[in-house]
Amino acid sequence: MDAAGWDERYAGTDLVWSAGPNVFIEEICAGLEPGSALDLAAGEGRNAVWLAERGWDVTAVDFSSVGLDKARRMAQERGVSIRTEVADLTGFDPGVAGHSLVLVVYLHLGARELPAILERAARAVAPGGRLVVVGHDVENLDRGTGGPQVPEVLTTVPGVLEAIEPAGLTVERAEVAERRVTAVDGSQATALDTVVVARA
Ligand SMILES: C[S@@+](CC[C@H](N)C(=O)[O-])C[C@H]1O[C@@H](n2cnc3c(N)ncnc32)[C@H](O)[C@@H]1O
Repeated sequence: MDAAGWDERYAGTDLVWSAGPNVFIEEICAGLEPGSALDLAAGEGRNAVWLAERGWDVTAVDFSSVGLDKARRMAQERGVSIRTEVADLTGFDPGVAGHSLVLVVYLHLGARELPAILERAARAVAPGGRLVVVGHDVENLDRGTGGPQVPEVLTTVPGVLEAIEPAGLTVERAEVAERRVTAVDGSQATALDTVVVARA
């Protein structure tokens, strides 16, 4: 989907995603010392705003200006502020070693575009800092629920590791992790996510 498509998806007042953070972001980042965080493909800002509430200095990047408007509004409503930047990540330079935390959460672009974005994201991590990548894993198609139903855009642990390998980070966690999902009717299901945490 292009930026106009995402703008349209985010156009309503309701949130497309949740107000609270992704469960893995919460689990991984809750104990980290706040610093400078870069949230790539931040969408409506659920992770960015949660980090800002915990003292992080957050820059949220996305090519949907409508999504980022909602992110800034959510931040304001919750008494914090975040920096936003409208940019297409396929051509975005996040800089080198500038952030103690870099997030790439549910960015599903496929093998032609995602690896280069992940490599740049990894290089943007400052010494001692972390890259966190979360995506709908390809295994989710057969054994999970939700997410894109196109295998080409789903992530894999080996694919993420291969993409970030040139940046030379130390991998702390790399797995297909289960995420509990509650449907609108209250029924429970399981989604399978690629989760990679790597330290510079
Ligand atoms: C599934 S949403 C995830 C949003 C957020 N990370 C979260 O977990 O709530 C994917 C996001 O990627 C953004 N996106 C997709 N392709 C992009 C690109 N080439 N450049 C910048 N943002 C992009 C979309 O606008 C959308 O906000």
